[in-house]
Amino acid sequence: MKGTIVMAVREMVQQQFGKEVWAKSLVAAGIDKEPAIAPSTMIDDKVVIDVIKGFCRTTGKTMQQFADLFGEYWVTQYAQRMYKTFFMGARNAREFLLKMDAVHVAVTRAFPGSTPPRFEYEWKDANTLVMTYHSSRGMMEIFMGLIKGVGKHYGENLQVRRIASNKVEIVFARAA
Ligand code: HEM
Repeated sequence: MKGTIVMAVREMVQQQFGKEVWAKSLVAAGIDKEPAIAPSTMIDDKVVIDVIKGFCRTTGKTMQQFADLFGEYWVTQYAQRMYKTFFMGARNAREFLLKMDAVHVAVTRAFPGSTPPRFEYEWKDANTLVMTYHSSRGMMEIFMGLIKGVGKHYGENLQVRRIASNKVEIVFARAA
């Protein structure tokens, strides 16, 4: 997975929990020397997951608690600085979420061998969207945390509920 994800995890952990907690998370993941990474560095998925688990073990947080913190940080802080252009033209949470499948294809296109998550969309009614998540990584908690983060960014009270192993139902408070 792209280094940009790990850079955002590191920033969030260091800012909200301190450098010590980040260092302990790496140790818990069996990493004794932190390598230098750039947004485009390819990092083994297992290493990324081990570091996140290391953070959970260090802080006593669950994977979903981590994912909610990360999702909010990614959307409201990190992506505002790194990927601002993707927010232009999306006036609300629904417009932004509907762009996410194409955005993931676009941001990984330049990197042969990338396997971005893919999303399918299905409207149950005018305000209820079902998003199906396709990825061999199985990061459902993070998928949900990021959707909640989109709601926070747009100041919308979204109801986000897992309805199947790879499906999330999102109820928008506002009509389109
Ligand atoms: C501007 C906003 C966003 C950008 C630029 C972005 C970009 C990326 C990138 C570059 C990766 C790594 C992919 C790889 O290495 O193959 C990634 C992973 C991921 N993104 Fe996003 N993302 C954004 C928002 C979102 C949102 C809102 C969601 C949820 C609806 C989401 C769901 C995920 C998930 C679940 C992963 C983990 C990898 C996986 O499951 O396979 N992202 N994203």
